[in-house]
Amino acid sequence: MLAAVGSAVGLGNMWRFPAEAGANGGGAFVLFYIFCVVLIGSPVLLSETLIGRHGQASAPESVRRMAIESGKSRHWDALASIGVLGAFIVLSFYCVVGGWVLYYVGAFAQDLVTTGLSGGAFQGRPAEEVEALLPGLFGNGTLMVALQVLFLLITLYFVARGVSGGIEFVATWLMPAFFILFLAITIYGAFTGGFAEAVTYLFSFEPERLTGPVMLAAVGQAFFSLSLGVAGMITYGSYVGRDVNLAGTSTIIAGADTAVALIAGLCIFPIVFAAGLEPNAGPALMFQSLPRAFQDMPVGSLIGLLFFIMVFFAALTSSVSLLEAPTAWMKDKFGISRVVATVTVSAGALLLGALAALSFNTLEEWHPLNGMSLFAGMGMFDILDTVTSKVLMPIGAILTSIFVGWIASRRLIDAENGLTGGLHRFWLFLVRWLCPVALMAILLVGIFPSLTE
Ligand code: PHE
Repeated sequence: MLAAVGSAVGLGNMWRFPAEAGANGGGAFVLFYIFCVVLIGSPVLLSETLIGRHGQASAPESVRRMAIESGKSRHWDALASIGVLGAFIVLSFYCVVGGWVLYYVGAFAQDLVTTGLSGGAFQGRPAEEVEALLPGLFGNGTLMVALQVLFLLITLYFVARGVSGGIEFVATWLMPAFFILFLAITIYGAFTGGFAEAVTYLFSFEPERLTGPVMLAAVGQAFFSLSLGVAGMITYGSYVGRDVNLAGTSTIIAGADTAVALIAGLCIFPIVFAAGLEPNAGPALMFQSLPRAFQDMPVGSLIGLLFFIMVFFAALTSSVSLLEAPTAWMKDKFGISRVVATVTVSAGALLLGALAALSFNTLEEWHPLNGMSLFAGMGMFDILDTVTSKVLMPIGAILTSIFVGWIASRRLIDAENGLTGGLHRFWLFLVRWLCPVALMAILLVGIFPSLTE
């Protein structure tokens, strides 16, 4: 379970959630996101883990086993293959953002060494200069790719060695420590202004803001954050023992993941408002706002350094799960060794990710999918992010809910899900009706907003 929490909690919570909330106008997005986690994400999470635990194998193989035992076509494993492709694409750009985290670890470490413990971080340097760290990095394509490669190599090292040992340590000790540090920074921030404004911004519901694209963004964020629709949770389900109640476990994973995302919002937006930054700064939001807060904090260099080290570990437990799924698939499919599979997948992710990294500088003007409205004006980084969270993950989740709700035999499902009585009937209703129907509707109005105009 801790490994699954480790996979779920990552850059999606700290970096992507605030960025998406800001880009989509706050309250309506956040409340719809919570709605999606509870009524769509959690039932799909339970569906994925139960497929994995029943199959006890890699994701496609688990789906195949369940389909065959239910007397249905083995080709339902396509739902896991879409997932494997999605995981590969997420991995490619995830490592780019992982590289930014490494850059900030370096920046705070250097600051700690040069200025020592007293006072805040980056003493004597104007706030604008601290904010300019990220644009500075974006301007340097070579450094960005180098850091992306470094992050990928660290991930590769863990996966090639077999995941359990290191990840267990990180999940058991560092994640709780991270949670406490993050909470402390948030509470400290709550007293330094901007908090009330942030709460209003994040939680006030203005129905007219809930457009098709905002709904799709919220569903996409729920899936991205819970690691759904990319076969990862099927794989993790296969590690879960028979005595564990999957419904309870899924609830804990979804609850912990959402708690971290909301804390990230309550930590970052007060700084944004107090410092007069733009809430819709997109991917830069977390990286530009938090260092400003560390500037004003006692022992800010040390706290900033610790914070970014922990973000790094949270990102690592997620990237490991992202690399794991395509690696397991390659190994099974081509009968190659674990190490060869890991290296091959990593090499592919490196090339694709480098295009994403360079879309902030050298390839800034390159918008390869301009002809499609969903991707209009986007560089490679945004395209990879959009195609996974807003297309592949929802499709993977639709197929999963149809498979579990309608295709697989009820006997197999009931033996795994750990639910009884009314809750069981409610979950079945969500998986059979609400998830597929709502997801298809949201996909449609999200991709073709003109439908609702
Ligand atoms: N859920 C992870 C995060 O929030 C990202 C992820 C997506 C990991 C899909 C695995 C699979 O950072």
